[in-house]
Amino acid sequence: MDLLTYILPIVTFFIGSFIGYRIYRKEERLRHRLVWSRLERRNVMRTINSLVSAIDFKDKLTRNHSDNVKHYALAIAKEMGLSKAQIDTIKEACQVHDLGKIGVHDNILTKPGKLTEQEFKEMKLHALAGAVILKPFHFLDKVVLIVRQHHERYDGTGYPDGIKGDKIDIGARIMAVADSFDAMTGKRPYRDPISKEEALAELENFSGTQFDPKVVEVFVKLMKKGNDLFEIAGEASDVL
Ligand SMILES: [Fe+2]
Ligand SMILES: [Fe+2]
Repeated sequence: MDLLTYILPIVTFFIGSFIGYRIYRKEERLRHRLVWSRLERRNVMRTINSLVSAIDFKDKLTRNHSDNVKHYALAIAKEMGLSKAQIDTIKEACQVHDLGKIGVHDNILTKPGKLTEQEFKEMKLHALAGAVILKPFHFLDKVVLIVRQHHERYDGTGYPDGIKGDKIDIGARIMAVADSFDAMTGKRPYRDPISKEEALAELENFSGTQFDPKVVEVFVKLMKKGNDLFEIAGEASDVL
C-alpha cells in the first residue's frame, strides 16, 4: 500500500512529462515546417519572377504587363469580396501568368504583323508550358491552375482545355479580363493601343462569351467610377 502511494505519483509524473515532451516536439516540428514553407514559397516566387523578367527583356513592349494585370485583377478580386487566401493566389498567378512564353521563339513574340496559324499555335502553348514549368512546386498548385486556365473562355472556346463557366477557376476568370484589358490598352508589335473606353466596350461586347459577365460588370463599374485601381489593389499587392 505504502509502496503504491510513493510509486504512483512518480510513474504519473514520468508519463505526464513524456506525453508533454512529445506534444512539444510535435508543435515545434509543425512550426518549423510552416516557417520553412513560407520562406521556401517566397524564395521560389522570387526565382520565378526573375525568369519572368527575362521574358520582359525579350519582349520590351510587354515589360509592365504582369504588374498591370496584377493590379487590375487584385482590384476586381477585392471588389468581389474574395478571401485573402484567394487574393494572395491571384497575386502570385498574375505575376507569373505568361512565364510559359519563355519557350516561345523571339521572332513570334515580337513579330510586327499578324501571326500565321502555326505561329499562333506555338504562342497558345504558353499557358500549358507555364503550368508545366511550375508544377514541380507542389505548394503552388492553385497558382498553377490559374496559369493553365488564363486563356480559357467563359463559353468553352478557349485553350488549352476548352472548359467553360464555373469550371474555370474564379482567379483565371478575373485574370482573363485584366489580361485582355491591359493587352488592348498597351502597344503590341502588330497594332497600336486602343483607348480605355474602347477597351471597356470590347470587354462588354464579349461578356458572357469570352468573359465571365460578373467579372466584366465589376471591372467596368470600377473603371467608370474613375477609381484608381492601382490604389485599390495597393493594399492587397503588399500581401507578400
Ligand atoms: Fe497569356
Ligand atoms: Fe498576359
